[in-house]
Amino acid sequence: GPVVLDRENPEFLATAYATYARLREQAPVVRTLFAKGVLDTVRVDSRVGSTADLVSSEERLLVTRYDEAVAALLDGSLSSDFRAGMTPQQLEGVAHMPEEAKPLADSLISRDPPDHTRLRKLVQPSFTARAMETLRPRVQRITDALLDKAEREAAGRGQAAPDRQMDLIEAFAYPMPITVISDLLGIPEEDRERINHLAELLMNTNRFDSSLVAARREQTRQFNAYLEELFERKRREPAEDMISQMVHTREDGDMLGHEEMISMVHTLFFAGHLTTVNLIGNGMVALFSHPDQHARMVADPALAKGMVEETLRYWGPVDYIGTPRTTIADTQLGGISIPQGAKLSVCLSSANRDPSRFPDPDVYDITRPEAHRNIAFGKGIHVCLGAPLARLEGQVAFETLFRRYPKLRLAVPVEQLKWGAGVGSGIGLRGFARIPVL
Ligand code: HEM
Repeated sequence: GPVVLDRENPEFLATAYATYARLREQAPVVRTLFAKGVLDTVRVDSRVGSTADLVSSEERLLVTRYDEAVAALLDGSLSSDFRAGMTPQQLEGVAHMPEEAKPLADSLISRDPPDHTRLRKLVQPSFTARAMETLRPRVQRITDALLDKAEREAAGRGQAAPDRQMDLIEAFAYPMPITVISDLLGIPEEDRERINHLAELLMNTNRFDSSLVAARREQTRQFNAYLEELFERKRREPAEDMISQMVHTREDGDMLGHEEMISMVHTLFFAGHLTTVNLIGNGMVALFSHPDQHARMVADPALAKGMVEETLRYWGPVDYIGTPRTTIADTQLGGISIPQGAKLSVCLSSANRDPSRFPDPDVYDITRPEAHRNIAFGKGIHVCLGAPLARLEGQVAFETLFRRYPKLRLAVPVEQLKWGAGVGSGIGLRGFARIPVL
C-alpha cells in the first residue's frame, strides 16, 4: 500500500527525513497517501454547506530524488492547474466556488501557460535583484524597529531570566515578513495593523475549519473592499510601491485586470508570509542545535547568506505539500512511466537531502559550497517569485540577530521544541510554533 504522509502526526514529522531517505532508496517516484488533502482547499471550500467530510485524504505520487524533482518541475506535461484532470461534475463545483475562494484559486501559482506567463511577466519587475537592493534598507529598518520593540517589551517585564525570555517567532519572525509585504505593496502605515490582521485571518487560519467559513467570507469582503479603495488612491497618487506599478499600464500596453490584482495581493500574502516566518525560525533552531555552526555565526554574522541557503536545504519551509501537479499527458520520470491524469507532488525536502547532489546531506553546514543548489523555492516556470525577497529577509534577519545579540540562546532544551502545529502548519509548512529565547 501507499506510504502514509500525515503532517498532523508528530511521530511522522519528527522522523520525516529518515522516511524520505528510505523512499529515495526505494524509487525516484513512490505512491503515497496524503493523510489530509491540504491541496484541495478550493474544492473543500466549495463543498461547505453540504454534509460532505471537509477533510479528505488522497493518493499522490511523490517525487523523492533531486534529479527527478528538477525534471518534474521542468516537465511541461505536468500541470499546476488544480482543475486539470477534474471530472465535469468536479469542474461544475469549481465554477460555483464561493467568492472568498476565488483570489487564491485564480492565483498564478495554479495557472499554466500562456495565462501564467502573462501574469508572471506583469509582476516580475518588482522582484528583480535591483528592486531588492532598494528594498534592503527598508527590510533593515523594519527588522531594527521590531527588535527595538521586542527589547522594550522584555525590559518592561523585568530583568529576571524568565521575564527576559521572549518567543522569537511571535516577537520577530512572524511580524517581520508580513510588514515587509505590506511595505512592498505600499499599504500606508496607518492601515497596516488592520489590513495585516485581516490578511492573517484569511491566509493563515486552518482552511479546513468549517466553522470559520462565514467569518472568512466577511473578512474577504472587507479586505477586498479596502484593496479597491487603495487601488483608486494609487491611481490618483502613485508612489514607489508595487500597487502603484500594478494599477498603471506598462509600456507594452498590458496590465493586470481588477480581479487579477486582487488575486495577486492575496497570493503575495499567502505565499510570502508564513514561508518566510519558518525560514527564520528553522534557521535559528538549526543553529542552536549545532554549536559548531553557532560559534561560526557569532564570530562572523556576515555568514548569514550561507546560513540562509543551508537552512533552505536542510529544513526548507515547503516540505512535501506545496508543489502539486497533475499530468496532462503521459510522461516519464527516472525511467518510470506516468500516465496522463496522475496526481504528483515534488518533495522538495527530500530532493534537498539527496546524497547524489549533497554529500553528507544530513550534516548542517552554513559554508557548504553546493547549498545554493537547493530547490526549496522550486524550479522552472513557477520557481518562487519572492525568492530574492525571502533570501534578503533571511540574510537581514540572521545577520542582525547575531550582531545585536551574540549571546542569544534557547530558553529551553532543544529537544523540547517540536515540529508541527507550527505557524503555517495549516497550509502544510514545516516549522516550529514557538522558539523561546533568552
Ligand atoms: C512560488 C517557496 C517566499 C511568492 C513558490 C514555490 C515554492 C515557494 C516552492 C513554487 C510552488 C510550485 O512550484 O508549485 C517559498 C519559500 C519561501 C517563499 C520556501 C520563503 C522562504 C515567498 C515570498 C513571496 C513569495 C516572500 C512574495 C512576497 C511566491 C509566488 C509564487 C511562489 C507569487 C508563485 C510563482 C508562480 O507560480 O510563478 N514559493 N516561497 N514566496 N512564491 Fe514563494
